[in-house]
Amino acid sequence: MNKEILILSGSPKKDGNTATLVDWFAEGARSKGARVEIVRTAFLKYKSSGCTSCRACQKLAGYECVINDEARPVLAKMAKVDVIVMATPLYFFGASAQLKRVFDRMFSLYKWDNKAGTMQTPLKGKTLVLMASAFEDVGLDALSKPFALTAKYTGMKFASLLVPNAGVSGDIKNKPGMRRKAMELGKKVAQAQRK
Ligand SMILES: Cc1cc2nc3c(=O)[nH]c(=O)nc-3n(C[C@H](O)[C@H](O)[C@H](O)COP(=O)(O)O)c2cc1C
Repeated sequence: MNKEILILSGSPKKDGNTATLVDWFAEGARSKGARVEIVRTAFLKYKSSGCTSCRACQKLAGYECVINDEARPVLAKMAKVDVIVMATPLYFFGASAQLKRVFDRMFSLYKWDNKAGTMQTPLKGKTLVLMASAFEDVGLDALSKPFALTAKYTGMKFASLLVPNAGVSGDIKNKPGMRRKAMELGKKVAQAQRK
């Protein structure tokens, strides 16, 4: 069965380093038969500035965000695919706000029973991939921490491609070996065994 991969691309630059990494990864994954969808989170139409902590999702039978905007079907798709890729530039040692805006609304993909101390999520067993680039060589480890911890907490496998010294938007295209690395990761993820 071919893998379903959803990529959340979180840079405001349409042809920058993040977009380039995403395109290379997608090319590799598609070459191994994966079905890949790329969502540029900066260009979705939102009805909220992020998760509003309304917790209405916790009362629903299914796993969906109650905010009815363009992020909603993207979140629903996250619950269905095999692999979720999050791609971001390093912004002040963290993820871009454009990615975080969707990331926090993943709250709707969990159900917590605080009394029983249990958590359920359809994300369990999937793979989370982080791709990120930075101008300098400091901070990508800090950026990756919340993604790695989220994967662990959720019961997801985790992989990452972190590119320091990537330059400004577009420069990554001139970085030797990067295209191959990103394509290889896409191929590897597309071919990995399901549990
Ligand atoms: C708002 C903003 C904050 C940034 N913060 C950092 C940073 O803390 N460290 C760093 O090395 N680069 C930083 N950068 C540079 C970008 O992370 C880097 O150029 C990245 O590869 C750009 O990706 P893009 O072309 O997809 O936007 C910042 C850039 C912007 C616009």
